[in-house]
Amino acid sequence: MKYAFAAVVPLMMAVQSYGGEISPPYLDPSLPVEDRVEDLMSRMTLEDKIAQMCQYAGLEHIRAAEKEITEEELLNGHARGFYKGLHSDGVVRMVQEGKIGSFLHVTTLEEANYLQSLAEKSPLKIPLLIGIDAIHGNGLYRGSTIYPSPITAASSFSPELWEKACRQTADEMRATGSHWAFAPNIEIATDARWGRVGETFGEDPYLVSRMGAASVRGLQTGDIGNDGAVLACVKHLLGGGSANNGTNAAPVELGEGKMRNIYLQPFKAAIEETSPYTLMPAHNEVNGVPCHCNRWLMTDVVRGEYGFDGFIVSDWMDIEALSRVHHVAEDNTEAFMLAVNAGIDMHMHGPEFAEALAGLVREGKVPEERVDEACRKILYAKFRLGLFEDRYVDPADAAGVVFSREHQQTALELARRSVVLLENDGILPLSPGKYERILVTGPNADNQSIMGDWTFDQPRENYHTVLDGVKEMADGAEVDFVDVGWNLRNISDDDIENAAAAARRADLAVVVLGEDSFREHWADKTCGENRCRTDITLWGRQQELLEAVARTGVPVVVILVNGRPLAVPWISENVSALLEAWEPGSMGGRAIGEILFGKVNPSGKLPITIPRHVGQITATYNHKPSQYSHPAIDIPKTPLYQFGYGLSYTEFEYSGLELSSSEIRPGESVRVSVSVTNKGTIDGEEVVQMYVGDDFSSETRPVKELKGFRRVALKAGETARVEFEIGTDDLSYYGSGGRLLLEPGKFTVMVGSSSMNNDLLKAKLELK
Ligand code: BGC
Repeated sequence: MKYAFAAVVPLMMAVQSYGGEISPPYLDPSLPVEDRVEDLMSRMTLEDKIAQMCQYAGLEHIRAAEKEITEEELLNGHARGFYKGLHSDGVVRMVQEGKIGSFLHVTTLEEANYLQSLAEKSPLKIPLLIGIDAIHGNGLYRGSTIYPSPITAASSFSPELWEKACRQTADEMRATGSHWAFAPNIEIATDARWGRVGETFGEDPYLVSRMGAASVRGLQTGDIGNDGAVLACVKHLLGGGSANNGTNAAPVELGEGKMRNIYLQPFKAAIEETSPYTLMPAHNEVNGVPCHCNRWLMTDVVRGEYGFDGFIVSDWMDIEALSRVHHVAEDNTEAFMLAVNAGIDMHMHGPEFAEALAGLVREGKVPEERVDEACRKILYAKFRLGLFEDRYVDPADAAGVVFSREHQQTALELARRSVVLLENDGILPLSPGKYERILVTGPNADNQSIMGDWTFDQPRENYHTVLDGVKEMADGAEVDFVDVGWNLRNISDDDIENAAAAARRADLAVVVLGEDSFREHWADKTCGENRCRTDITLWGRQQELLEAVARTGVPVVVILVNGRPLAVPWISENVSALLEAWEPGSMGGRAIGEILFGKVNPSGKLPITIPRHVGQITATYNHKPSQYSHPAIDIPKTPLYQFGYGLSYTEFEYSGLELSSSEIRPGESVRVSVSVTNKGTIDGEEVVQMYVGDDFSSETRPVKELKGFRRVALKAGETARVEFEIGTDDLSYYGSGGRLLLEPGKFTVMVGSSSMNNDLLKAKLELK
């Protein structure tokens, strides 16, 4: 869908009486939105228009930083303010004067209403657009439903269920005063050292595209004019998940072929299929051009080629970074010029921008049409979201929506499908009545690390930890909890001794380890935004803790709660069972309990490769054919666990792979079908995966690429015929120069339960 603007003649006549004054047409809801936008624009000065391009952090956020400083002190150069030289009282005045168009990090409904009331006092009464990082639920809002984090949700291979979670997130946002989610993050994450892996959908362009498009559909409800819709924001353009050294915002070098085949693919899919209304560039540079002034990416590719038709918001202080960090602009003013001319429509964060941009327009360095275009897109969204008609929210309505039973159920269902069983010597599911005394320990056993990043403190009664889940399910068994504290950095000798002593008394140990992305653990968290590592083993003394427990001889089940892949070969060889729970959210502990005790059969599959060692970083499944011609000599060449892998309590057998034709011509498609049988004695769900590899090509191609997946539920003994379609688009690729190529020859179609060759049936398809 295009957000089209007719060339509209401003409607200068007044239509109705409004508060004793004549009300302008743009306030008349019966007029078409395009007309209202143009009428409003015709009444705006350059400064008014630029104000719409300005976003500030919420007042409470600013106030928290400026506690104990008076306005006068701040204006006289005090450095402790949030925006140097600008007091929160000044921000209040600016809103009343119509100098701010948008806010972010408004984390209470009362504040949202208050800010809107200030904006209603401004001369043009334009409502505020309020954005928030609702990455997996509206997590910065206390009391929200926290769904599994994106890497967790991607493990479910269930875009429809994720879409539902995003739909519900939009409802919770609208009920609490926000209209715009800075999500989805559709970067391709190939480097486990990067702290933000947890907020992505992993390494595979096809899976990321499906999950990304589902996010936009859910958040925007198909159309931003629908009741309950919020704006989605596809981010970050481009490549931050594969930065030098795996550190956030570090440079990225990418050939155009790889850029288009891998990194741009989710943006193309989301834009073409779902029309996300906003987009955010990345902190980093790509091939020497910082993304915030990359006209080729923002304007030529996403707007020009893909038809992106909304507005582009800068990331936090990233326009200023063009000068301060990247040194491609001498000062902030030049940075603003480069960014707006390259395609940025809204400045995320704070002062200086408005005045500088007005000056740049007057000097002819930024065309006024750029400002018009940006302002028009922003106003259009405000009209379509219905904010001119109703900008306030009612606390009574919010109470019925936020963390509703239905939302909790979706979060639980998603967590159930997302947990990946990586090892099982037969101990799971735990036999009822077999274990009398279960030890639960480990730093992630009983706290909010289970939520993942982009979550603030949630009420204790709103979330289920692993300890809760074990207690809820452990039918009669005594559960002994040894609390080693939440802080991964602070496990003491006493903690280790206590856990080992309790293990001696127990007949089963559940040890919950991993990483900590929880935002409120601030400096102590080990994962999440700006928490990149050089090593991807268990942080601190977790390994010692685990080995001390294991040495007692008690059977050990390890549960990893983590936002990045962890290299844990010792665990995979030495424990009875290993569950990769990622960051399963509010209901995660319950889902884990259900899986441990066999109430739910695990069915998650890995959306990212788990390396054996940090030296295997970027060992993705879709590697080139020469990747292992001379592998490293000090570890096995294959990663620890491969993309698409995940065990079940039952066994699925694949047979009868068939193609409707062994030949395909440009524009045609071929049907692929396979039988999948549940060979075990319990019901289960399987994620059936289809990969395609190009046998010979003029440029090297990945050994295989995911091109389809289906989740099927099969009762014990049941067989289903599962179908996919392959079109010639699935066989084409971008060459190194960025040209789309479709080359005749043979392809191998592979269908099975993971990306590993032994798990795949194969058939040949020839492109004529
Ligand atoms: C992150 C963005 C986020 C923004 C606002 C930045 O640091 O990179 O992803 O949306 O902050 O919180």
